[in-house]
Amino acid sequence: MSDTKKRILSGMRPTGKLHIGHLVGALENWVALQDRYQNFHLIADYHALTTNLDTTELYQNSLDMVIDWLAAGIDPAKSPVFRQSQVKEHTELHLIFSMLVTTARLERNPTLKDQVRDLNMETLVYGHLGYPVLQAADILLYKGEVVPVGEDQVPHIEITREIARRFNNQWGEVFPEPEPKLTKFARLAGLDGGQKMSKSLGNTILLSDTPEEIQKKMRTAVTDTQKVRKNDPGRPDVCVVFSYHQKFNPAEVPEIRRDCESGALGCVACKLNCSAKVAAVLAPVRERRAALEADMDHVLDVLRTGEAAARAEAARTMEQVREAMKVGAVKTESINVR
Ligand code: TRP
Repeated sequence: MSDTKKRILSGMRPTGKLHIGHLVGALENWVALQDRYQNFHLIADYHALTTNLDTTELYQNSLDMVIDWLAAGIDPAKSPVFRQSQVKEHTELHLIFSMLVTTARLERNPTLKDQVRDLNMETLVYGHLGYPVLQAADILLYKGEVVPVGEDQVPHIEITREIARRFNNQWGEVFPEPEPKLTKFARLAGLDGGQKMSKSLGNTILLSDTPEEIQKKMRTAVTDTQKVRKNDPGRPDVCVVFSYHQKFNPAEVPEIRRDCESGALGCVACKLNCSAKVAAVLAPVRERRAALEADMDHVLDVLRTGEAAARAEAARTMEQVREAMKVGAVKTESINVR
């Protein structure tokens, strides 16, 4: 790991097996950036507790996510992969940072407001209010300068910058002010035509799905509802399947647009073609996934190594923090004995 490269801290909450929305929205970007930057890949397992206290699946979900990361091309030799819960400095720095941000600031967080609305939450636990404070600790423990995220996470990076600034003003320059790096591709629509692909909505195609499963799911995808019969002219721009063609089958996009609009192409054939293209893109990922699942020792080793590297880095930063704050070990010569 070269010290001259800029630092990236990227993270996801362990929601289990990943879907093509994760691949397009985040993972492809992480893989593309891993040579130019020094990257730390965080599994935010403590963050998962903010909205769900059931921990029975947490470990398995974390492993499933690691497998998908590696299958998608994350190289653990370049970039440590680790669980937040295994590096205790996250909780330490979180505590210190919690003194540097007002509750009013956290209550104004638009991402939190959206979550409260979407999940129909009537009450909010203290830890959920502090979600961005823990995220700030995640990023700044590794002195992350760049954070690849989706639009919804930008407010959290802004809070991270404010906390870094506040710390540096109070105790001296320790932290960078990280920048968000938005992913190029807009989020992939769900099969149901919804804005967002999400496992809880059941509108996803998983990286681990077989070609048959992909075909079956694709059959349920929402197309132009005005195209009722096969030879009715369609409107590709309102069709979910067409949006997948744009991502997974760019070469045929002009032809598909033309034939859909003229009525020459029916939805059944179009979906079959799209399923085949998605399956082809996922084939190598699925193959690597199967190999990893058959070699769990290797996967656990990736975590062990990644967690050791993360711990070393986190310990270094915490030493600087304690030194700056003068809450480090007491040096005998500095004690004033009268
Ligand atoms: N909040 C992020 C999400 O829900 C996950 C996350 C936790 C994260 N810590 C992070 C992302 C640090 C980037 C950096 O997607």
